[in-house]
Amino acid sequence: MKIAMVGSGYVGLVSGACFADFGHDVVCIDKDETKIERLRAGMMPIFEPGLGELVAQNVRGGRLSFSTDLPSAIEDAQAIFIAVGTPSRRGDGHADLSYVYAVAQEVAESLKNPAVIVTKSTVPVGTGDEVERIIRESGTSTKFAVVSNPEFLREGAAITDFKRPDRIVIGAEDEWARTVMTEVYRPLFLNRAPILFTSRRSSELIKYAANAFLATKITFINEMADLCEKVGADVQDVSRGIGLDNRIGSKFLHAGPSYGGSCFPKDTLALLKTAEDFNSPVRIVEAVVKTNDTRKRAMGRKVIEALAEAGAGEPRGKKIALLGLTFKPNTDDMRDAPSIAIVQALLDAGADVVAYDPEGMELAAPMMPEVTMARNAYEAVTGADAIVLVTEWDAFRGIDLQRIRQLAAQPVLVDLRNVYNPDEVRSAGFHYTSIGRP
Ligand code: UDX
Repeated sequence: MKIAMVGSGYVGLVSGACFADFGHDVVCIDKDETKIERLRAGMMPIFEPGLGELVAQNVRGGRLSFSTDLPSAIEDAQAIFIAVGTPSRRGDGHADLSYVYAVAQEVAESLKNPAVIVTKSTVPVGTGDEVERIIRESGTSTKFAVVSNPEFLREGAAITDFKRPDRIVIGAEDEWARTVMTEVYRPLFLNRAPILFTSRRSSELIKYAANAFLATKITFINEMADLCEKVGADVQDVSRGIGLDNRIGSKFLHAGPSYGGSCFPKDTLALLKTAEDFNSPVRIVEAVVKTNDTRKRAMGRKVIEALAEAGAGEPRGKKIALLGLTFKPNTDDMRDAPSIAIVQALLDAGADVVAYDPEGMELAAPMMPEVTMARNAYEAVTGADAIVLVTEWDAFRGIDLQRIRQLAAQPVLVDLRNVYNPDEVRSAGFHYTSIGRP
C-alpha cells in the first residue's frame, strides 16, 4: 500500500518509518529542503532512540523515501497523512491550524486518484469537517474521505508505542475509509492491537481527553506530594497504595517538578479553548493548567529553601548545578521543560547556574544563555553549593554519590524526581530534599 506522510517532524517521521517497517511504501514529505536533504543523507532532525536505524533500514529496503514535492509524492498514495505542527496560537492558546489547512488546500489541488486523507496532527474537534470542506470546495471530482487518527506516542519510546499501541483510534464517517484504514494498520490488526472505530469528532476529542486526563493524574499526585511534605507522609507509598487499585492504575502517578513537553501543555490549553468556544466549562482541566504552571517556579523556591535548611546560606552568588534540562529523559526536547522556570527562579535569586544534560544542551543553551553548560555530570557538580536533579536520565540514577559529594562545595542535593534512596544519599553525607517524602 502506498502512503504519503505530509510533515516530517516528530510524528510524521516516526509514523512514516514505522509504516514502512510494516511493509508499506512510504514517502515522507516536508517543505523544509534542508531537512529533506539531511534525511536523505541519514541525519535525523530529532533525537529519538532507534529512529535513525529504523529509517536507514527502510530506506535501504526501498520502502521509505523523502521528498519536498507534494503533488508528485501524493499522486498514487491511497492514504495521505497530515502530520504537520499545531502549535498554540499566540494569545489565546487555540491550536494554530494554518499548517493543517494549507496542506489540505495543497492536497486538494493535486489530488488525482482516490485517497483517504488522515489527520494525525492533534487537532480540535471539527477540524476534520473543515479539511473536508476545503477539499470539497476546491472542486475536485476525485473520490476522497477525511479521517481522524490521533497519535499517542511518547517521546523517547515512540517506536515501541507505535508498534505496540494500547489502542488505535480511527474516526471515520464512511465504510470505504474504514476499509482503507484497516489495511493501513493490518500488521497491527494481526497482532490484536485494539482498533477503535468512532466518529471523526469523537476521535478528535479522544486525543485531547486522554492528554488532559494524564496531565490531571500527574498534577493530582504532585499536589498530594506537597500535602505529604506537610503531614509527614511519603508520596511514593501513597502512589503505590492508590495505584494498586485497578480502577486507578499505577502509571502516571510519579510526583515530579511539573509536566512539560510538546503535548500536555499545548493540548490542555487547546481543550480549554474548545470548552470556551462551546460554552461547556472544563474546570478540572483549568485548575490543572494553573496548578502545573505555579509549580514550576515553586520548584526554584524549593531549591532555595533546601540551601537555607542545610545551613548553606542565601542563593546569591552560590553555584547551583542542574542535572538534566529536558522535560523528560531520552529526548532532546526542551519545550515547556520545568528546567526553564527553575533556572529563571534561581537566576532571579542571584545564583550562578551550571547544567549538564546528555542530549538537551544544544537546544537549551540559546534558551538560557546565562547558564554554563558542563561536559558531564561530574564537571557540573564540581564546586557546587547545591546539586539539583531535574530530569531522571539513567546516567544520573547510577551516579557515584560519594564522588559528587567530594566534588561539591556544600552537601546539598535536591532530587525533583525521587530517584535516589534517601538512606544512601544521607550516608554519602548529603542534606537531601526530594518530592513528597519525609
Ligand atoms: C505525552 C503522552 O503520553 C502521549 O500519549 C501523547 O501522544 C503526547 O504527550 P510525552 O509528551 O512524550 O507524551 O511525554 P510523557 O512521557 O507522557 O510525559 C509528559 C510529562 O509528564 C513529562 O514532563 C514527564 O516528566 C511528566 N510525568 C509523566 C510526570 O511528572 N509524572 C508521571 O508519572 C508521568
